[in-house]
Amino acid sequence: MDKPASREEMLALLDWFQAMGADAAVDETSCDWLARGPTPPGAAYAWPRPDDAQPLTQPESAPTRRLPAQSPTAETTRPRAATPLGASEAETGARRIAREAGSLEALEAALKTFDGCGLKATATKLCFYRGAPTADLMIVGEAPGRDEDLEGKPFIGRAGHLLDKMLAAIGLGETSVHITNIVYWRPPGNRTPTPQEALACRPFLERQIELVSPKIVVAVGGSAAKELFGVAEGIMRLRGKWREIAIGQRKIQAIATLHPAYLLRTPAAKNLVWQDLLQIRSKL
Ligand code: URA
Repeated sequence: MDKPASREEMLALLDWFQAMGADAAVDETSCDWLARGPTPPGAAYAWPRPDDAQPLTQPESAPTRRLPAQSPTAETTRPRAATPLGASEAETGARRIAREAGSLEALEAALKTFDGCGLKATATKLCFYRGAPTADLMIVGEAPGRDEDLEGKPFIGRAGHLLDKMLAAIGLGETSVHITNIVYWRPPGNRTPTPQEALACRPFLERQIELVSPKIVVAVGGSAAKELFGVAEGIMRLRGKWREIAIGQRKIQAIATLHPAYLLRTPAAKNLVWQDLLQIRSKL
């Protein structure tokens, strides 16, 4: 039998995982998410137990998940909700719940009970919004990262600090801007949210935009822009151009700009963002 790893070895292994970009513990064993078929990654899914005689609903090629050696309870044998939602079911359910929310508080409460987005299963906290409850300018980013997940607020890490500086440069601060993301929970390992995850959250985002009632919506980064505008082009083509998005009964002016996390890696692109910010300031 292998000698058990020492504390130092375990710590060294954790350091190595972190250096490789793994900063969240998702499960004890790796699994092939693609083999789960249409169930969105991260959504509650009834992986078969080794002693299950028949496979459940996954394709034959799906791996069998080894469960930790502990007495089976509802919690340990089935991750979270018993019935995983497909993307369209999640969206329909979300749309009904979101429509009923008459305030941001009610919308946040609805999100807390909503299980249709798989990201919730691996996230620490819901990240709803930061800033003013109603504002002329609404910023929509991609997804919470590690700092946001721990704190439960969007854009509070390094990228968030740069975003604050960008807004301050055109005279705006937390009291005049509403900041959120296209998904409300952190994707494991900071991956880009899948279209299903964004779709499940979309009705809440649309209701949020209705309640905040901004003059301008700014999509920050490529994936927010693609999801918000329903287009496939890259951010370099999308940025800096005004368009209208239809939210409820309203048409709202919207523009995309580069993500501050990209600017941290590519400071030379700041001049492009400055041009976008000037356009935003003059439209406000
Ligand atoms: N990046 C985002 O897109 N959103 C956040 O909330 C944080 C980082």
